[in-house]
Amino acid sequence: MRSEVNDIQIHWRESGRGEAVLFIHGFPFHGGQWDDQIDRLPMRWRLLAPDLRGFGRTDLGPGSGPLEMDLFADDLAGFLDALGIERAVVCGLSMGGYIAFALWRWHRERVRALVLCNTRAGADTEEGRAARRAQAGRVEQEGVASLANEMLPKLLSERTRAERPDVVEKVRSMIEATPAQTIVHALDGLADRLDSTELLPTIDVPTLVIGGSEDRITPPSELEFLANAIPDARLKMIEGAGHLTNLEAPAEFNLALVHFLEALGGH
Ligand code: MLT
Repeated sequence: MRSEVNDIQIHWRESGRGEAVLFIHGFPFHGGQWDDQIDRLPMRWRLLAPDLRGFGRTDLGPGSGPLEMDLFADDLAGFLDALGIERAVVCGLSMGGYIAFALWRWHRERVRALVLCNTRAGADTEEGRAARRAQAGRVEQEGVASLANEMLPKLLSERTRAERPDVVEKVRSMIEATPAQTIVHALDGLADRLDSTELLPTIDVPTLVIGGSEDRITPPSELEFLANAIPDARLKMIEGAGHLTNLEAPAEFNLALVHFLEALGGH
């Protein structure tokens, strides 16, 4: 499906009816990252997985500057407006979590509850920013396939890489489907993002934090930090999963999500 939001056409996948759950994908993927949730979770929630600006089938729009987390958050607030949804449970993974923090910063009245997966509150270090600039340079010179080869060993646990060739291929194809221009602008936006640590004690909606024991990008200590800093947050650590918990361990991920959503009531 697609809808006109701000200056772009947003594409999204959806299933079910009831209270809205907005899934925000990571970098550099698209809404298809959430297929195991959209297809397998019970139909008693309205599950929405948009492609963010520049990713999947959603266009980049007229601007050519950094893809800031705040811009994605504004797009998503506009997306909820277009669908007539006042508040949604917001579930973001990695960059999706950074965007969930931006939604909390600027549009918190739209957030019914939060699910923060494999993400962190802190901004990039100087070293992290330099690594992103170098990565953008490699993508410009060598193309997106080089990025997939570089990222896969960090994104997925050793077990997933050995036992789940389907997941490896899915992740590779999502990365390769992302235009180089989007990747370069998104790397700029990621490098510029604000530190959200000071927001954590202000989060007063139910929150579930999900991590993977083998995550090398956002290690378990980051998720523990979030769960300790957010009042009353719950933590679910998935053993054996890497950075992409919802793809690597969908059954455990979905069970944790269903328990959390059921405890919210109201559907
Ligand atoms: C992601 O999975 O969204 C990225 O790893 C986020 C990042 O590079 O900080």
